[in-house]
Amino acid sequence: KNLEAIAREAEKARTIAGSRGLLGLNIMHAGTHYAQYCRQAEASGYDAILSGAGLALELPAYVSDDILLAPIVSSLRALQLIVKTWNRRYSRMPDFVVVEGSEAGGHLGFSREMLDQGSCPDLSGIVQEIKDQFPEIPLFAAGGIFDGADVRRIMAAGADGVQVATRLIATWECDAPQVFKDLLIRAGKEDIMLLDSPAGFPARALKTPFSLQLDDSLERNKAEMVCTNCLKTCSHQAAPYCLSHALMKAAEGDEAQGLFFTGSSAWKICGMQSVKEVVRDLMNE
Ligand SMILES: Cc1cc2nc3c(=O)[nH]c(=O)nc-3n(C[C@H](O)[C@H](O)[C@H](O)COP(=O)(O)O)c2cc1C
Repeated sequence: KNLEAIAREAEKARTIAGSRGLLGLNIMHAGTHYAQYCRQAEASGYDAILSGAGLALELPAYVSDDILLAPIVSSLRALQLIVKTWNRRYSRMPDFVVVEGSEAGGHLGFSREMLDQGSCPDLSGIVQEIKDQFPEIPLFAAGGIFDGADVRRIMAAGADGVQVATRLIATWECDAPQVFKDLLIRAGKEDIMLLDSPAGFPARALKTPFSLQLDDSLERNKAEMVCTNCLKTCSHQAAPYCLSHALMKAAEGDEAQGLFFTGSSAWKICGMQSVKEVVRDLMNE
């Protein structure tokens, strides 16, 4: 089903974009079927694979040189390791890189302790460090980029572009359920939390009945789940909850049982916009 979806989403996106621009597919390195998804991405005509949630050290082995490859990293050290390995094993360099800071949504590349203490390095600093070391790799900064001032600040630090997620969810075009969009519109700072994901990373999500009760009802969604062994890093027995199940519930718009990932800027969203309006605001501001 996932292989079919990879092909279907490519077709949908190409229909919208026409011949303009690049289509990228973000594939979690922690996924059990990672290699198959990468091959399917190339076969389905994506122009680029972006890959985070772990170090995609063997990614070039799965695809040809025709598809662009972009690691998602949260530190200079991670990128250095990827560059060194790709260079030695595959004579390849990343075609671009996404540098994701601690304000991002979903899985985060920092320890839970650092996130709780607020002691993560700031995105501008990481961007500067990476750009100094690898000036030739186009760099997109992600995490907490919300308005034009954020874009200007991060580009001044050396980013060539930005990746925006949270703000683009509350758009008419986004295919997330309206429940998710409304949760984001209503959210205040106090409605955003950190939790631990069975993928082996801390994650940022909205406070919902599901995320709030994780601590005291660990078995809550495992009874109804069918384990598809989706994550290399998850142990069915030890996992406190099923990530796939919780994310699918969110995709279905189930406010009680869904896990809704968000970046730290969710509280700034105050209404629905079109993608065109968001991009226009970012450029004008
Ligand atoms: C709902 C949601 C789901 C996400 N899922 C993924 C994912 O599957 N893989 C990934 O690399 N990043 C994921 N992210 C992170 C985004 O790709 C992005 O880098 C980050 O959230 C940017 O920060 P912003 O949300 O503050 O704009 C997700 C973010 C959100 C909000």
